[in-house]
Amino acid sequence: MNINTIKTEIDFISKNIEAELVVINSAQGLEELRIKYLGRQGAFAQLTGMIPCLSLPERSRIGQEINTLKKRLLSIIEEKQKTIIIKPAVSDKFICDIGLPAIVQEIGRLHPITKVIDEICAVFNRIGFSVVEGPEIETEYNNFTGLNISLEHPSREAFDTFYLKPQGLKVSRCQEEKLLLRSHTSPVQIRMMSSHKPPLAVIVPGRVYRPDAVDASHSFMFHQIEGFMVDENIRFSDLKGILEVFAKDVFGEDIKMRFRPHFFPFTEPSAEVDISCIICRRKQRTENREQRKHCSVCGGKGWLEILGSGMIHPNVFKNVGYDPKKYTGFAFGMGVERIAMLKYGIDDIRLFFENDLRFLKQF
Ligand code: PHE
Repeated sequence: MNINTIKTEIDFISKNIEAELVVINSAQGLEELRIKYLGRQGAFAQLTGMIPCLSLPERSRIGQEINTLKKRLLSIIEEKQKTIIIKPAVSDKFICDIGLPAIVQEIGRLHPITKVIDEICAVFNRIGFSVVEGPEIETEYNNFTGLNISLEHPSREAFDTFYLKPQGLKVSRCQEEKLLLRSHTSPVQIRMMSSHKPPLAVIVPGRVYRPDAVDASHSFMFHQIEGFMVDENIRFSDLKGILEVFAKDVFGEDIKMRFRPHFFPFTEPSAEVDISCIICRRKQRTENREQRKHCSVCGGKGWLEILGSGMIHPNVFKNVGYDPKKYTGFAFGMGVERIAMLKYGIDDIRLFFENDLRFLKQF
């Protein structure tokens, strides 16, 4: 072993390092390089092991050369490290443990109220009604005046309606319309009829607001579905026929209906519509007459009120610019929560709004 052999070796290592560094692009590759040269059995250890074969003056010169190269290599490795994007250890080797349980994807579902709205709208859609929506903030005119609801009517009172304060809607320079949260979906009758000519067959789902104290059967916000039809020669019998299609579709073929005379300012004549108690019907199959008296849903009467209806009042037609001698029509309005409660046997309206997944997941 002479000095020239060691020098050639040093040169060779020096060149090799440069070439190898160019292609290294991972932390792992860099570590392998470090071990190859600086590890305990690496190239530098071998070079150092050759030193005792040299003469004393040669030893210190070669020793210095080896050290310089070593330092250079260390600083090059340090520099290179900065340019390498540290990847997580797993990305170098793809690890897939097929024994692990999959990540559970929670899939949402429609709210029971949305389901009932969709179902009812689909029934009317099938028989030619268009689905239309209106705003929840309404003018006092559309909610009351246009619908022939007189100034003295109790539903106009401040404690019976959510009025919006302080500003109303400017309708002319000196006149301002009061705004409120609509108390029913009937104002959409005014909106549709004022902007469209008959024939009209419309169904209107939406939220309505009344300042009722919340309990098992009341909520300050609930949903209604309004329906109306206007043309020449529309009769009460059309209303009956259409509501029968609806009731049978939603509650079953064997449902019975009855019309009770009632009063609404915007319909004349007016009627409330009842269906035969579906809870009793279920019980009928298993229990006797005596037990049926205790039905908590209908109170033993055997009938359940589901909606208000009637023939559209001539004053409403005048208010929207229709000729009441030429056109007739019917309208009806139902509470969606009530229908959903009857359909699914739910006894507390608050369940719809509490967002309790144990309840909502059942639909
Ligand atoms: N708007 C009425 C209510 O909220 C329901 C109704 C609609 C009655 C249409 C008759 C005709 O009670």
